[in-house]
Amino acid sequence: SSSSAAVAPPVSVPRPVLTQEDLKRIAAYKAVDFVESGMVVGLGTGSTACHAVARIAELLRLGKLKNVVGIPTSKKTEEQALALGLPLSDLVAYPSVDVAIDGADEVDPWFNLIKGRGGSLYREKMVESRCGRFVVIVDESKLVKKLGEGGHAMPVEVVPFGWNVTLEKLQSLFKSSGCVAQLRTGSDGKPFLTDNLNYIVNLFFKNGIEDIHSASDAIKRVVGVVEHGMFIDMTTTLIVAGTDGVTLKNK
Ligand code: 5RP
Repeated sequence: SSSSAAVAPPVSVPRPVLTQEDLKRIAAYKAVDFVESGMVVGLGTGSTACHAVARIAELLRLGKLKNVVGIPTSKKTEEQALALGLPLSDLVAYPSVDVAIDGADEVDPWFNLIKGRGGSLYREKMVESRCGRFVVIVDESKLVKKLGEGGHAMPVEVVPFGWNVTLEKLQSLFKSSGCVAQLRTGSDGKPFLTDNLNYIVNLFFKNGIEDIHSASDAIKRVVGVVEHGMFIDMTTTLIVAGTDGVTLKNK
């Protein structure tokens, strides 16, 4: 018969809302596509990078990756990787790293970064300056027009001896731009200690960092400075996860 059965109206299935954690994981998994068997891989630090570490360990466990050696950029990442059975080594044994994957606190339009709000900037920069490909993974909230805009911290690792002198000198370098320098402390009020047993001085720029190259040079000339959190001209691949999808851009 030609009876027309009632057609159910289309049901609109709500798109699952992606949390920031989902976005971090999506970016991290995409970055792990660059990891191949036999590679030496720099393992970043932080809540985004830890998804990449977990994914690499999983692929090794499943036999989809073989003979990968990780170079951790912090004690925290080292602990995570060891707990997951990911083989680790260091820059003494492997001074060249094939690919490194890490998060960032801020990314500017030229893929320059602020890193180190987790305090691991020295080891991160050391490992990431030795790699053939540096894949940066962020959710879209990390994108900025200018590093340091919004008055967020740009961390500088300093030697504890004479830290107050180093802090004063750093602040005076950028006095005209209203920069405030502050020793990072923990919840106990004591100075935050890096993995290298150094301190962190946070620099707060009112209107962002005017000229990152000259700021970098000036900071590096201060006695007592170990390293700063600007990662300039280091990123080779940027992966951004947003609510509209993932984008991958090569420098
Ligand atoms: C730690 C870092 C981190 O990569 C940076 O702080 C980003 O962390 P998260 O992915 O948790 O936002 O530089 O020193």
